[in-house]
Amino acid sequence: MKRITSAFFLVFIIVLSCRNEVKNGAKINGGELSVKTLSDSAIVVRNYVKENIVIAHRGSEFWAPEETEPAFRWARNMGADYLEFDVQLTKDSALVAFHDNNLSRTTNIAEVFPGRVELGINDFTLKELRSLDAGSWFNSAHPDRAMESYKGLKILTLEDVVMIAEGYMIKSMNGIPEKVIRDGEWTGHYTYEKDPADNGHRPGIYVETKNPKPGVERILAVELEKSGWNINENPGEIETEEGKVCVANTNARVILQSFSRRSIEQLEQHLPGIPKCLLLWHPKMEDDLKSKYVKNLNFAADHNVHIMGTSIAGEPNNYGELTAPWMTDLIHSSGMLIHPYTFDTERQLNEYGDRIEGLFTNRVDMVLELYDRGTDTSSPEECFIELGYH
Ligand code: G3P
Ligand code: CA
Repeated sequence: MKRITSAFFLVFIIVLSCRNEVKNGAKINGGELSVKTLSDSAIVVRNYVKENIVIAHRGSEFWAPEETEPAFRWARNMGADYLEFDVQLTKDSALVAFHDNNLSRTTNIAEVFPGRVELGINDFTLKELRSLDAGSWFNSAHPDRAMESYKGLKILTLEDVVMIAEGYMIKSMNGIPEKVIRDGEWTGHYTYEKDPADNGHRPGIYVETKNPKPGVERILAVELEKSGWNINENPGEIETEEGKVCVANTNARVILQSFSRRSIEQLEQHLPGIPKCLLLWHPKMEDDLKSKYVKNLNFAADHNVHIMGTSIAGEPNNYGELTAPWMTDLIHSSGMLIHPYTFDTERQLNEYGDRIEGLFTNRVDMVLELYDRGTDTSSPEECFIELGYH
């Protein structure tokens, strides 16, 4: 009888452990995996990041050639909280703002370096990249939004974007940028001047390590330190004005993001104590999505990630749905914030807006208007005119 009771008890325990109802967790291979929560020190860093932030995706992907000077000057003057861009390493270890793996979609590489069209960014020096036209493609792709002054735009460096965030622009004479010459040589860097059209907003930067090559995170840390934007090392005091965007003067002046887990680990090693976002990408739903989702959250919690960057569904991108209510519940239960990408329509804002703390958008103008956050210009088009584009 004692043996029968023990056997019954064992079966009861096994049945219990196989139950599907899991609070804040997901069943994996018959077991269960709970969502981990952020450490106390990670919560301190998470709290640097303010809520309802508007992140200008690639500056302005909709209105101007992505990740170029007009895109970022426009996003700053419109009043975005952050300028979002992707950094990649050049052959000579400069950091440039560039999204794609190669230069074929958004530059005239086929004309300038016809034999090198398929090569990656790190196969080119900064000086070579600066010889490309990163603006004209936009006029062909979007004739309704084309501008003559987009022709000949330069690929930017990380330093260029930081300077734009601080109210500067590349110094030019008759459309020709002024070069920094050191030891009689130009390595691809330009000089800056105060932007005459600057209206005082000081956004932060939201930097993604894209196609991250070994060492990019260390170089990023050094570059941010040089510019006074690494809050761990000699952070600069950036002048700000009451009533304007002042993110550049906070501990969250930089947010770091990556799809790459290895890069997230390296970012934490070289830039600890700076807010970090793990980006998630999933082109279509799969049966075990829930367990994969929880595993990603737990990786994030284990590596001092503070934000999940999830894709949203719907036109025009039709990305996989990674911001459904059960998903945002899981993320919030971990203590992390949610900054989904990429908002293009009012419908998307209505669907997801109440469950998130910030968003990547190609339509900063639309989101600020719906958030009832006044801008200093009456329309996106007028903003470009004020900035000198035509
Ligand atoms: O970084 C957020 C979002 O930009 C991720 O997508 O492809 O535009 O870098 P992608
Ligand atoms: Ca990005």
